[in-house]
Amino acid sequence: MKLDRLIASHEAMGRQAAHRAIAAKRVRVDGDIVTDGHHPVDRFTLVELNDVAVQQPERALYLMLNKPAGILSATKDDQHPTVIDLIDDPDKHTLHLAGRLDRGTSGLVLLTNDGRWSKRLMAAEEKVPKVYLVETTDPIAPAAVEAFARGFHFHTEDITTLPAELVILGERSARLTLHEGRYHQVKRMFHRVNNRVVRLHRESIGSVALPGDLLPGQWRQLTAQEIQAATTSC
Ligand code: URA
Repeated sequence: MKLDRLIASHEAMGRQAAHRAIAAKRVRVDGDIVTDGHHPVDRFTLVELNDVAVQQPERALYLMLNKPAGILSATKDDQHPTVIDLIDDPDKHTLHLAGRLDRGTSGLVLLTNDGRWSKRLMAAEEKVPKVYLVETTDPIAPAAVEAFARGFHFHTEDITTLPAELVILGERSARLTLHEGRYHQVKRMFHRVNNRVVRLHRESIGSVALPGDLLPGQWRQLTAQEIQAATTSC
């Protein structure tokens, strides 16, 4: 929303009166005088008129969680524990997921109550690299590296996957970097090289990586730098 609209809706003072108040330097946004009526504000912004709060800011939350396998990437479920059950913040009911993992997949999940941030993150998702550790039932053939780089045609969506970087770490383990997030993508890609994923773990999304000391089931707030970088790392 724009600042002039928010001020105008305050006690129905109207657009013109709002513009006059803004021009007269009677409006502060997060403590600073703002004279541009088009200044963007949202529900996390403190807006004051004549030094009185017109809007108190809501608390914005940006979290990372190390999801254990077996936990659902959902906010509610009648049968299975969800990622929200692992979080002990009083405002956890306001959170939504910025990208999901399959129930059996472990690793980095981002949660927020800031819809604009998650929208930017998901829009950037097409380019933000996501790094996975993969373990398979059968040995990974060296030819898979080239096949993952070429891409696979997925008939259901009629798309060809973007070039992905597969680094073979051991006979049955690899690190895979994807630049998109299709449904069951990693599993479907390995299926195409006649293999099957038995363990999948997401290590990072763009510049946000799971820290080694964040144990399965643990979460922490993102730093200001991580919040900023997550949506600009494409
Ligand atoms: N690809 C998958 O197959 N599963 C996930 O959870 C994430 C990527």
